[in-house]
Amino acid sequence: MKYLNLTIIAAVFSLATVTSANSGDVVSLRGANELAKNAKMFEKTRIKSQQGGFKRSWKLQPPSIPHTIGKERINLEENTCMRCHSPEKFKEEKAVKIGDSHFIAADGSKSDKVNGRRYFCTQCHTPQKNIDPLVENTFNSGGN
Ligand code: HEC
Ligand code: HEC
Repeated sequence: MKYLNLTIIAAVFSLATVTSANSGDVVSLRGANELAKNAKMFEKTRIKSQQGGFKRSWKLQPPSIPHTIGKERINLEENTCMRCHSPEKFKEEKAVKIGDSHFIAADGSKSDKVNGRRYFCTQCHTPQKNIDPLVENTFNSGGN
């Protein structure tokens, strides 16, 4: 019993030294700012819908998406973008036909299925918002 008590006391003591050694000594790279202190809530922003689409900055730019895509799903089973953009459906949906380049494989062969390289549409096409850019952008396409 005496032995057990000593062990408990030793354990509590060592725990106390570990805690006191650590408190106050840690300086994070972000300085003394508390994690939640400067955090400002982002303003709520909306996806911009624009009839006729967005102007491209250069000829082969993947065009930006001029509508919301919150409900679309792109996964192994389905790609709901194709409900409207496939060569079969685009007319009926008054959408834009997916680029012909999207059916060409790396070796140049064509198929009637979207090539794997172009399957995940939002890798290249993104919706837009009406907000100030986070950093200045002086990109110039040079008229291409
Ligand atoms: C319900 C139908 C529908 C679905 C689903 C849909 N789109 Fe669209 N999309 C449209 C229509 C209609 C337009 C043309 C809008 C306009 O020009 O006014 C369009 C335009 C676009 C454009 C612009 C093309 C250009 O040349 O400017 C891109 C890019 C695009 N969609 C990508 C996507 C992607 C990626 C998805 C899936 C995440 C998707 N769309 C899902 C109907 C749809
Ligand atoms: C790897 C990048 C990439 C991916 C992934 C991709 N696209 Fe594109 N997309 C482009 C580029 C670049 C263009 C413009 C040049 C062209 O047509 O190839 C384009 C053009 C388009 C256009 C306009 C075609 C036209 O004739 O004006 C539509 C619509 C479109 N893509 C829809 C889609 C959809 C839907 C998907 C997913 C199934 C998708 N894209 C996946 C890069 C991509």
